[in-house]
Amino acid sequence: MKQVIVGDLTFDLFISANQIKERTTEMGQKISETYGDKKPVFIGVLNGCFMFMADLIREVDIPCELSFVKLSSYQGTAYGQINELLGVGIDLTGRDVILVEDVIDSGNSLKYTIEALEKLKVKSIAVCALLLKPSCLLHTFDNILAVGFEIEKEFVVGYGLDYDGLGRNLADIYQCAPEQ
Ligand code: IMP
Ligand code: MG
Repeated sequence: MKQVIVGDLTFDLFISANQIKERTTEMGQKISETYGDKKPVFIGVLNGCFMFMADLIREVDIPCELSFVKLSSYQGTAYGQINELLGVGIDLTGRDVILVEDVIDSGNSLKYTIEALEKLKVKSIAVCALLLKPSCLLHTFDNILAVGFEIEKEFVVGYGLDYDGLGRNLADIYQCAPEQ
């Protein structure tokens, strides 16, 4: 089995670049059929989504716009955790938004991102995620339009996803090898 070392861990090949390409094509087609002439705005959640977004958007053949955000979490002095969406850069009022995520694990960051977008008075929000770990989910979502691959709770790297900042440049997705 093809293996890579990322930082201090060994990872096994899990989802190949070809499999990703095939699935991304299907997802792009589904989005094009679903949205028709609605001119959606794709919003990618950085950093993990950058490679997926670049490939997904090329499979979409309807008019669309694109931007990226970062979610910053910090402890407010009196009000507990405050989450803020940085860098939207487009007026999203009344727009159909497609949120593009690398992986949904607990769903915490997706929940915060959706709540932050709702405050911007968007018309609709749908989620398109490359990976979903159903057994890790702490929230339910009724707006997931497309998921590339449902996986177990294994930790994965590659294709934009990192381990301690490393491994984002790998073209395939790798899973953490057992017994380390
Ligand atoms: P959540 O808020 O628990 O759903 O986690 C979301 C974020 O955690 C993702 O956007 C990733 O940045 C990171 N993450 C979760 N699982 C993995 C993984 O297996 N590999 C790399 N990053 C991950
Ligand atoms: Mg993410």
